[in-house]
Amino acid sequence: MTDAVAPPSRTIATANPAYTMTARTLHWLTAVLILPMIPIGVVIANDQGGPLQESLYDLHRSVGAVLIPITVLRLIYRRRNPPLSLPDDIPAIQRLAAKVTHWGLYALLILQPLVGWIATSAHGAPIMVFGWFELPPLSAEDHAFSEQLFWLHRLIGIATACLAAAHIGAAVYHHFVRRDRVLMRMITGRRSNPRSGEGTLAHAKKRAAATAIQRGIPLAR
Ligand code: HEM
Ligand code: HEM
Repeated sequence: MTDAVAPPSRTIATANPAYTMTARTLHWLTAVLILPMIPIGVVIANDQGGPLQESLYDLHRSVGAVLIPITVLRLIYRRRNPPLSLPDDIPAIQRLAAKVTHWGLYALLILQPLVGWIATSAHGAPIMVFGWFELPPLSAEDHAFSEQLFWLHRLIGIATACLAAAHIGAAVYHHFVRRDRVLMRMITGRRSNPRSGEGTLAHAKKRAAATAIQRGIPLAR
């Protein structure tokens, strides 16, 4: 056995993004689709859409419907390509908060469109998806049941808005207060700043060499 410190492999330093391009695309696509759903929902529920009311209904139902397969696809992809865990210096309580928020958002991303779909079916209204095709009804017509479900849809809408606000606030806090890489992991995929050299092979070699010198260990060639 040798005491020499081998240079770290390229895979540790550079090859693994925290989030792959696919994971990032699915995340930002979901964000762009879901965020306008909340104000659009409030406008249609309060009959404030004027001449656009019917189009806004169609848009709201269509976007909601496509969020279900996007989220299912995202969860399948995540299972096969799990993201890297958060940096070690993130406190345990923040890790827990992130986990609860992320899984809460995933759950609401599936639950909310399903509740909207069942409520609309129970109301007896058709659900056209971008004018391409009609979704099958998930319930027989029952107006009282529909009202109850739309009440639930409103509550889940409020919960989604609160959770998304906490989530976005946390991303801003990490970036501007803690000044760590959490937000950038979801933008560039990289878990370290390339300008600092951190995370590159050269930087990792330098750190390994410094550790070896400190310990008086001969360097591997
Ligand atoms: C994640 C996706 C969705 C979000 C975040 C969302 C959010 C909301 C919100 C916040 C409201 C306003 C509730 C209120 O103030 O009473 C609303 C209303 C509504 N949503 Fe959704 N929704 C989603 C998906 C869907 C889907 C898939 C459908 C149907 C297929 C749907 C059908 C409706 C309808 C018809 C209303 C108006 C209810 C009324 O007129 O009282 N939503 N939605
Ligand atoms: C401006 C808006 C947003 C920003 C800046 C943002 C930022 C981020 C960041 C930085 C992460 C990675 C956290 C980590 O590394 O652990 C993340 C993950 C995540 N975001 Fe967002 N986000 C936004 C909007 C949303 C919205 C609207 C949703 C859904 C309603 C959402 C759902 C998620 C989920 C589920 C994850 C966990 C990904 C995973 O590890 O499986 N995000 N977001």
